[in-house]
Amino acid sequence: MADDLPDQPGPRRMTQVFTDGMAGETPGVPLSYEVLESAALDALSPSAYDYVAGGAGSESTVDRNREAFGEYRLLPRMLRGVGERDLSTTVCGTELNHPVMLAPVGVQSIIHEGAERATARAASELDLGMVASSAASTTLEDIHAELGETPGWFQLYWSSDHELAESFVDRATEAGYEALVVTLDTPMLAWRERDMQRAYLPFLDRDGVANYFADPTFQSRVDGDVADNKRAAVEEFLEVFSDPTLTWDDFEWLCEYSDLPVVPKGVLHPGDAERAVEAGAAGVVVSNHGGRQVDGAVAAVEQLPAVVDAVGDEVDVLFDSGIRRGADALKALALGADAVLLGRPYVYGLALDGADGVREVCENFLADLDLGLGLLGCDDVDDLDESVLAG
Ligand code: FNR
Repeated sequence: MADDLPDQPGPRRMTQVFTDGMAGETPGVPLSYEVLESAALDALSPSAYDYVAGGAGSESTVDRNREAFGEYRLLPRMLRGVGERDLSTTVCGTELNHPVMLAPVGVQSIIHEGAERATARAASELDLGMVASSAASTTLEDIHAELGETPGWFQLYWSSDHELAESFVDRATEAGYEALVVTLDTPMLAWRERDMQRAYLPFLDRDGVANYFADPTFQSRVDGDVADNKRAAVEEFLEVFSDPTLTWDDFEWLCEYSDLPVVPKGVLHPGDAERAVEAGAAGVVVSNHGGRQVDGAVAAVEQLPAVVDAVGDEVDVLFDSGIRRGADALKALALGADAVLLGRPYVYGLALDGADGVREVCENFLADLDLGLGLLGCDDVDDLDESVLAG
């Protein structure tokens, strides 16, 4: 970017904030995650807020994801020459400027009218990789067009209509995505008390179905034109959204079928990580879907070391579920993750101010990560390991 601001994300963002401060301006989007979340509560409809913030059952796993991060402590080292820090890395063959991508989050039209287009615009302004969801409110082709040269991966919800799943894979490959993230932890939607209490499922309002309605295979399943027969199309969507009968044999088939590297998401058990790699996975995403699937499940970060031990030498390991600030990302990277996915924080940025809100949240997050890296005494994210953790 041609401007007078420093290049490194940390000093850059600080300079920006304090320069604006001299002109009497303070940041529009709250820096504190807790304040950001409560501001989003005011900005969103109650149903949309509950859909984003909520989790499975008692939400004990949503809470546990955060508590577990608190149990790891960073151990900074001094005088290590950290003036220039390298945040770039390569994950599953994709070159990233930061060890961070935006997690796949569906139905963004319930958050902001700009939806995934706004998110992709912010990602492209920051050259921050994005994983586009199957359940987006914008087609995968339009999201990719907005991303331009910025790395994009496509997240597959494996439909019970297997020809439809194939069509999604073909479209993602054709559109230029660089990897296929296959979410394994959602063979069915979980019991989510908040959504049930409100009797709210965004797909019934035709939010989050753009990829389906635009798909020729999907269209061939609906009598007449999808646009004229939206009710039948929504029913078809509900019928084919997921497939609880899938097994590792199907996953193996997908790895053979796909020309893109396949990266399963939602892996928590090291045995599943090993099975995925055996089947041909190019990496794994350690995740519990932000506590939205199995109430009472272990925190994702508690399982990260075991998964890294099992497959970290063979493939790249990504992580999400509970990343809120730079320190969380540093801990996950220190535990062996090669990159992290940022979830709810950017969604709240979108709620507050569309693309600008996503950009601001991400700029703050990357700045915090960059400064934290240097303050730990490390000048390259690829060098982070357990030596920066206490105990
Ligand atoms: C998600 N997540 C998700 N994952 C996925 O594979 N496909 C999807 O469409 C969605 N949709 C989605 C919607 C909303 C509103 C949320 C909050 C999450 C899960 C997401 O990719 C990621 O795993 C979690 O967001 C990580 O948890 P935290 O860090 O956001 O708490």
